[in-house]
Amino acid sequence: MNSEKLVRLERMGLGPVWQLRARADKPVAVVDATEAVALDAADFSGLDWEELEATIRDCARCGLCRGRTHAVSGIGDRHASWLFVGEGPGRSEDLEGEPFVGPAGKLLDNMLKAMQLARGVDTFIANIVKCRPVDADGRDRPPVHNEVAACRAFLQRQIDLIKPTVIVALGKTAATSLLGLNEETSLSSLRGEPHSYRGIPVVVTYHPAYLLRKPEDKAKSWRDLCLAQSLHDER
Ligand code: URA
Repeated sequence: MNSEKLVRLERMGLGPVWQLRARADKPVAVVDATEAVALDAADFSGLDWEELEATIRDCARCGLCRGRTHAVSGIGDRHASWLFVGEGPGRSEDLEGEPFVGPAGKLLDNMLKAMQLARGVDTFIANIVKCRPVDADGRDRPPVHNEVAACRAFLQRQIDLIKPTVIVALGKTAATSLLGLNEETSLSSLRGEPHSYRGIPVVVTYHPAYLLRKPEDKAKSWRDLCLAQSLHDER
């Protein structure tokens, strides 16, 4: 570990690290399963960026649209070599229309900084679902299967347009949705080795909101980011 990296780790407030290996507040209804299966087959492969963003903005493919202030399509460089994928917008993101602008977003920005990256510069940040999922008490919640299915084709088209070199999946929902795995798959079983999305390497790490609650796992997350960096650099 060189001293430059140690300085960056200090900035992130991290402890010991591993060495790099080889290289709206309203509750809303959701679509039923039958409807979601049909929605899942949606194909946006002919859309350019403007058409895709307009389609996301006007989307009513699941019940999440009814509670949203903004659909949050994503932000960044449309030719980025890095794609970071989160779960779905929270309250701040719904209000501002941009992903990861709340407390978890501040940590994500610090993680990017530690990798000598920055929001919007060779990076694109998107979510599995584009509208904020809330529970019956108006609190953020993870998207359910049908909502993920209804939104999947949007992220697929974003990835096809961006053609990232590496994708970093932030948290279990992002990882299992992206990789088409059973929702019960544990995050720990997915960390530490590269996966693949249509030939693009995918590295799974903790969601920044989890790291805010469990800062002692930041060092493990740094290890994941180092793996992603090595995959990025070798391509
Ligand atoms: N959490 C996410 O997964 N995505 C966001 O945009 C904000 C918080």
